[in-house]
Amino acid sequence: METKKVQAEDEESLPTSTTPLLLNNINTSSSQNKPTLLLNLITCMSLITAITFSLLFFSLSPPSTTTATARHLNKLHHPTVILISSDGFRFGYQHKTSTPNIHRLITNGTEALTGLIPVFPTLTFPNHYSIVTGLYPPHHGIINNFFFDPVTGEKFTMASHESKWWLGQPLWQTVVNSGKIAATYFWPGSEVKKGSWTCDDVKYCKHYNGSVSFEDRVDTVLDYFDLDLDDIPVFMTLYFEDPDHQGHQVGPDDDEVTQAVARIDGIIGRLIHGLEKRGVFEDVSIIMVGDHGMVGTCDQKLIFLDDLASWVEIKSNWVHSYSPLLAIWPPSDSNYSLTDVVAKMNEGLSSGKVENGNKLKVFLKEDLPKRLHYAESDRIPPIIGLVHEGYKVEQSRTGKKECGGAHGYDNEFFSMRTIFIGHGPQFERGKKIPSFENVEIYNLITSILNIKGAPNNGSDSFPQSVLLPKA
Ligand SMILES: *[C@@H]1O[C@H](CO)[C@@H](O)[C@H](O)[C@H]1NC(C)=O
Ligand SMILES: *[C@@H]1O[C@H](CO)[C@@H](O)[C@H](O)[C@H]1NC(C)=O
Ligand SMILES: *[C@@H]1O[C@H](CO)[C@@H](O)[C@H](O)[C@H]1NC(C)=O
Ligand SMILES: *[C@@H]1O[C@H](CO)[C@@H](O)[C@H](O)[C@H]1NC(C)=O
Ligand SMILES: [Zn+2]
Repeated sequence: METKKVQAEDEESLPTSTTPLLLNNINTSSSQNKPTLLLNLITCMSLITAITFSLLFFSLSPPSTTTATARHLNKLHHPTVILISSDGFRFGYQHKTSTPNIHRLITNGTEALTGLIPVFPTLTFPNHYSIVTGLYPPHHGIINNFFFDPVTGEKFTMASHESKWWLGQPLWQTVVNSGKIAATYFWPGSEVKKGSWTCDDVKYCKHYNGSVSFEDRVDTVLDYFDLDLDDIPVFMTLYFEDPDHQGHQVGPDDDEVTQAVARIDGIIGRLIHGLEKRGVFEDVSIIMVGDHGMVGTCDQKLIFLDDLASWVEIKSNWVHSYSPLLAIWPPSDSNYSLTDVVAKMNEGLSSGKVENGNKLKVFLKEDLPKRLHYAESDRIPPIIGLVHEGYKVEQSRTGKKECGGAHGYDNEFFSMRTIFIGHGPQFERGKKIPSFENVEIYNLITSILNIKGAPNNGSDSFPQSVLLPKA
């Protein structure tokens, strides 16, 4: 996380508002009984009575919802969630190669059929923290991987662990507030002291070290299941840097990414087998997600701010981030108002005289589409650019030749989507649900754990639209 410098200028994305709808909530067993029942009825009643009765029958029959309920715990005393993030696991990567372990979770669990929608910007830190707080970035405070506090001038980096940056209430804090145990094996924000979550005990709160092998991370989580039943954390996180790492270097279509996906699948297999060996696989809720997707970028798809000089000179020290999230903060003594800067930039970009100018549009943050939820924080620079998928913004021509991958773009792009798979007692086997925004996950997890969550941007009805009711 802290070590992933390459990602710093490469992340952005946008959330789309999607109402959760169940695709497979039609219960076939009750409808299969109806024809037989009706035939019997018709033989012993007059036609008119039968018609009247059948109308009554259909109007009184319950709505076509499933009658299945959550499966009982065999061994564990409490509902338990393992939340896994595979960084940059673009939606569709699960079909790049044989992924038998991920597919075990999909086959016997619940999957977002067209992927999980990240928040904007589709960057690592904003998204991981939205997943665990249920908040859009302006409300949880982590509005980019790097930013300034405009009041104090202090700088946030991916290694900043002071609690003033990290707003909202992450799941580990919610769990500890409810008197239960949480354990984090890496997650952005997990080392930050917040209220009852002090991260003092390294047994339950691991300090980020990207050199720890994925196998060791999984084995440590498995070891928790060897503790006395009441000492097993009810909420655990696991974080893997891949395949984001490879995706940035070589783009999403390179075979290095395919290999990284296969390796993640093997790691998921290690977890599944370890849980099976301990007799708890069917008791544990595994939620596997990514933070964002990935799209190929290349040196032909560039927009240079210096090309706008005849309209407005954008100085490099005005630019807080270039790509794919263009964020500009002109100094207050600049000769242009913010509105002027936006107008002049857009005039240049749409003039037809700027290379790839039509691939970038600039906004005052308050004028961005509302679905992006990217205005209500002083930390967000006043001018934000939305870049077309796969394009990058740079200050000036360097002649650098490169093809790689990036994320951070509008979350409306399918390339920015990632996966959601839930497997466990409250997840219906083989169920497909429509895409949804990752801010819904907080309520989903508090609902599984039966604990009270903090106010957030997820909807109250989401968990019941996804989870099997408790028996
Ligand atoms: C799905 O669960 C059923 C019931 O526990 C089990 O028999 C089957 O082997 C599982 N399928 C996979 C692919 O794991
Ligand atoms: C990080 O993990 C590696 C591999 O386990 C270990 O050798 C190294 O000492 C760790 N570094 C720190 C600072 O703990
Ligand atoms: C603003 O305009 C004035 C007058 O043209 C000029 O002297 C000054 O250097 C400009 N300031 C900046 C920050 O560009
Ligand atoms: C998101 O949640 C925060 C905190 O509860 C609230 O202040 C804000 O109005 C919410 N925003 C949206 C769009 O729901
Ligand atoms: Zn990431």
